[in-house]
Amino acid sequence: MSENVRPESMKRINTPELAQAFIEKSVAELRAQIGNKKVLLALSGGVDSSVCAALLIKAIGQQLVCVHVNHGLLRKGEPEQVIQVFRHELNANLVYVDAVDRFLDQLAGVSDPEQKRKIIGKVFIDVFAEEAKKQDGISFLGQGTIYPDILESHGVKSHHNVGGLPEELNFELVEPVKFLYKDEVRMVGKALGLPDGMVFRQPFPGPGLGVRCVGAITRDRLEQVRESDAILREEFAKAGLEGKVWQYFTVVPPFTSTGIKDGKRTDDRMVIIRAVNSVDATSATIEEVPYATLHVIVNRILAEVPGINRVLYDLSPKPIATIEYE
Ligand code: XMP
Repeated sequence: MSENVRPESMKRINTPELAQAFIEKSVAELRAQIGNKKVLLALSGGVDSSVCAALLIKAIGQQLVCVHVNHGLLRKGEPEQVIQVFRHELNANLVYVDAVDRFLDQLAGVSDPEQKRKIIGKVFIDVFAEEAKKQDGISFLGQGTIYPDILESHGVKSHHNVGGLPEELNFELVEPVKFLYKDEVRMVGKALGLPDGMVFRQPFPGPGLGVRCVGAITRDRLEQVRESDAILREEFAKAGLEGKVWQYFTVVPPFTSTGIKDGKRTDDRMVIIRAVNSVDATSATIEEVPYATLHVIVNRILAEVPGINRVLYDLSPKPIATIEYE
């Protein structure tokens, strides 16, 4: 395990200069380790995999093959942002895999939260392994493991750790940010020129919107989660709450309630808004969002998201509630 202990000599990266120094040292080490060989990396668009990818691109350019799997549970605009930043701005070798139908078909009718997570993890590995098989001459597997992952789970990201990696992915690991804490990863990402929206984004669970479409996922309810989340994020940004509130999102439970529209009773679903503050996710308090902002969000969701007739604001702290709904 000694290779997984942060060296005592490593300074805390808390200035742009220290981030630059880390990048230079890391690029030299990556070039020495990888030579002219190829590295495969699953790029989710999250902070860790994005910073890992950007470092590898700087070090080895087109020898890095990034695979972005769209599992259909990403937020509105996320796959487009990954393609824009990595393919068009950083000129990366990026394979985009649209696996939406495959994931949603496998998840159809599954309501148990752990089973949903297992299916998402397993289909992800299957899709990624198939892409790996299509690539010639891969020698390394890049991973955006960060130091808290090592401290918590001995190195492999939990949502990827479903029964270990299959043979197709049995490559030597390249983990350039494995000794960094989250704030250091962000500092390095910023110094690498990644957009703020990617570097400073709120935590997002591996199973994505899947855990916010409570119970068995249906496509129409998933769209209600995605559209209401996009409205919430847009209005939080306008109200100056982006970057101030730790995590905020919407949830759509699998039941309906009565409403009234154009003089007729409706039997539609509801959106629940959750906005919490936390330091490390083990406990969380409720953000006191101004009523004026909440009204704007409620009115927009009711007007713009089809099939929604009610919006609720969840006031439950963690504990006793968890942050996510399942
Ligand atoms: P809970 O709901 O347990 O969430 O209070 C704590 C934090 O963890 C995130 N979360 C997940 N992250 N895979 C992840 O990568 C998951 O399955 C998962 N479930 C919850 C959650 O968004 C919150 O930040």
